[in-house]
Amino acid sequence: MTANELRTMYVNFFKERGHREIASASLLPENDPTVLFTTAGMHPLVPYLLGERHPAGKRLTDVQKCIRTEDIDEVGDDTHCTFFEMLGNWSLGDYFKQESISMSFEFLTKHLNIPVERLAVTVFEGDELVPADEEAVDIWKSKGLKDEQIYRYGRKENWWGPAGQTGPCGPDTEIFYDMGQPKCGPDCGPACHCGKYVEIWNNVFMQFNKESDGSFTELKQKNVDTGMGLERVLTIFNGKTNVYDTELFQPVMKLVEEILIGEGKELTLREKRIICEHMRAITFILGDSMKILPSNTEQGYILRRLIRRVIRLFKKAGINGNYLCELSKVLIRQYGEVYSELLENQDFIREQLQKEHALFSKTLDEGLKKAQKYLNQVEEGGTLNGELTFKLYDTYGFPVEFSAELAQEQGKSVDMEGFHKKFEEHQNKSRQGAAGKFAGGLADASEQTARLHTATHLLNGALRKVLGEEVYQRGSNITAERLRFDFSFPRKVTKEELELVTRIVNEAIEKKLEVQLEEMPLEDAYNSGAMGVFAGKYQEVVKVYTIPGYSKEICGGPHAQNTGELGSFRILKEEASSAGVRRIKAVIEG
Ligand code: ALA
Repeated sequence: MTANELRTMYVNFFKERGHREIASASLLPENDPTVLFTTAGMHPLVPYLLGERHPAGKRLTDVQKCIRTEDIDEVGDDTHCTFFEMLGNWSLGDYFKQESISMSFEFLTKHLNIPVERLAVTVFEGDELVPADEEAVDIWKSKGLKDEQIYRYGRKENWWGPAGQTGPCGPDTEIFYDMGQPKCGPDCGPACHCGKYVEIWNNVFMQFNKESDGSFTELKQKNVDTGMGLERVLTIFNGKTNVYDTELFQPVMKLVEEILIGEGKELTLREKRIICEHMRAITFILGDSMKILPSNTEQGYILRRLIRRVIRLFKKAGINGNYLCELSKVLIRQYGEVYSELLENQDFIREQLQKEHALFSKTLDEGLKKAQKYLNQVEEGGTLNGELTFKLYDTYGFPVEFSAELAQEQGKSVDMEGFHKKFEEHQNKSRQGAAGKFAGGLADASEQTARLHTATHLLNGALRKVLGEEVYQRGSNITAERLRFDFSFPRKVTKEELELVTRIVNEAIEKKLEVQLEEMPLEDAYNSGAMGVFAGKYQEVVKVYTIPGYSKEICGGPHAQNTGELGSFRILKEEASSAGVRRIKAVIEG
């Protein structure tokens, strides 16, 4: 079975059972600042799981592209990927456990022809919040699963979500495929990671919402959220032992091997797999409509890390040439038919891979010089301290493994423990920074900040008019004196463009337009073309502020009542905030 046959078979199965197919959303979750990437098919559906009406109805199905970075260290084994496709089906307050499990069972045993004996399932054993899921146990038994195929686990294994810090979640029943002999011992079970049990499908019974204070509230409706890993099912169905032997990875793996042969170099199987897996994730991130660029923060940082890991593996093998574009080309060819955004963005993908390769090569050369300088001061047999090792990594972008190798070649070492300590300190700091960043732009709600807030909306609208639809708000911060607005854009904004933006904003101010406020369901707001940014928490009904002809945004307010209250708008500064993100500071005067 090909990947495409599996996608079609899955979606059709659910369509025949009353589901409507929806499109795969961007890899960047909209309106959820607590996660960097779309990690599951449910992510774009959060408002609907919370009770909003979905225009396509109560039964949905799709194939969603996902990125999960928490598995990054396991990449290279048989089944873990940072990028994967999730086959999903949902009930939004419609069917529940009986029908959900029955459909999953039917698909697996009748359509994928998996023998019942090869299945193992886990169910929630219960806690103070939710009782043990005996209902799921009974349903599984009624399907012919034996007691020994049904495992009961606690919250760690059998509770799913929320995806970020808040949102819908609930107990689940996970379905595993039994690969045969355990590698660990006779007591192996689905919670073990030896590879005997491969999780293929997860049916979540979503009845709760985790609130920002950590409490759980019961949802208005009982939902089902399921997710099945396309790569894993393809592996199993085709009798393979790992995802790299499926058609999805074969072309790119072949090219990696050809490159190595051509260069007369070698890498381990795991390293070759990491290159293939990361190249696929990189291609999809760069190919996403949101145009993410490599940078030192957030999604851009993950992207940079993936790209640099691939470059490092090549360098480790002694290969300095840039093969990244060729590798991504194979993947674009492989996936372009299903994910047309990859074809549309292929030039962008190539440009970014070239830029990042050049930049990192330069960084490595400079880092190497610095590292040597530091090591020259360390006596024979001595250790480079954690602080300097971290400095090489943090300030000069020099990978710690490279420092360690260089030291070793000279009979010296680096203080890894000290390095990790510094690293963690740094991470804690940036996490706090990220939390603060999305806390909301309005420090106080004086009339002047409300006016600056309205000016921010006008600025956002004007930037999109002048620079195009690529502009997305990435952050906003307002004090009583000025506004600060961060937005995605790949280059410096020219003086002429800034002048035009200023003129448009002032024109809207001079027209003395009423700032209109409407409340509407989130879904209608989206459908009406309102921009939505960092809403943080989905609400049933959202506020939409419209400045006719200039701006329409989902926003909590407060705002000026009329643009005439604003005074003259002036841009103080335009500068880079991080890679791919520009920052404007502006004031309103008089
Ligand atoms: N959202 C569930 C998962 O990701 C289906 O496992």
